[in-house]
Amino acid sequence: MGKVTWKPGTMIYPLPAVMVSCGATKEEYNIITVAWTGTICTDPAMCYISLRPERHSYGIIKKNGEYVINLTTSDLAFATDWCGVKSGRDIDKFKKTGLTPIPATVVSAPLIKESPINIECIVKEIKELGSHHMFISEVVAVNADERYIDKLSGAFLFNETNPICYSHGKYYETGKSIGRFGFSVRRKKSAK
Ligand SMILES: Cc1cc2nc3c(=O)[nH]c(=O)nc-3n(C[C@H](O)[C@H](O)[C@H](O)COP(=O)(O)O)c2cc1C
Repeated sequence: MGKVTWKPGTMIYPLPAVMVSCGATKEEYNIITVAWTGTICTDPAMCYISLRPERHSYGIIKKNGEYVINLTTSDLAFATDWCGVKSGRDIDKFKKTGLTPIPATVVSAPLIKESPINIECIVKEIKELGSHHMFISEVVAVNADERYIDKLSGAFLFNETNPICYSHGKYYETGKSIGRFGFSVRRKKSAK
């Protein structure tokens, strides 16, 4: 069998589907679901989100230069989808979803309490790429839910949060580990 070649398109999947919270005041608070997101630098810690300018959140984030990336889980899948199909122009998404806004440590945008990891970001540059504008941002704080921190090792038990991902129009649960970083070069233990 050969290959079928398609016209250029977005086909890098799976991706995270995160809830991005924004707004400097309670009246302005909003949540937008974003899949065009990722890490772009380790030191300094930097990430991006790409938004269509017509999104209600676009104007808020551009004006304030701040937002929070809230990681999502199976329990948050419904709210994640909902915040990605409704606009905050017409409704209060925190109120409608029952998600709880709590103060961040550095930025004015709120954290979503129910999310296991909240990443506070400050916008450094906006690249107008086309349909989407890329907000290149510095991570200024990461907040982790204590429930998932192992008491002995202090490690964050990511998998216990039941993270979800987004792949070509559908959400999936993750969860089954098939190897540790570097397992391909690690020597196998002898059978004895
Ligand atoms: C899974 C998923 C991923 C999405 N990813 C993006 C994205 O990366 N960028 C974007 O501009 N909109 C994205 N959207 C669409 C917005 O979340 C949606 O238009 C939302 O209603 C905008 O809300 P707002 O008008 O309150 O800002 C996504 C929606 C879903 C459901």
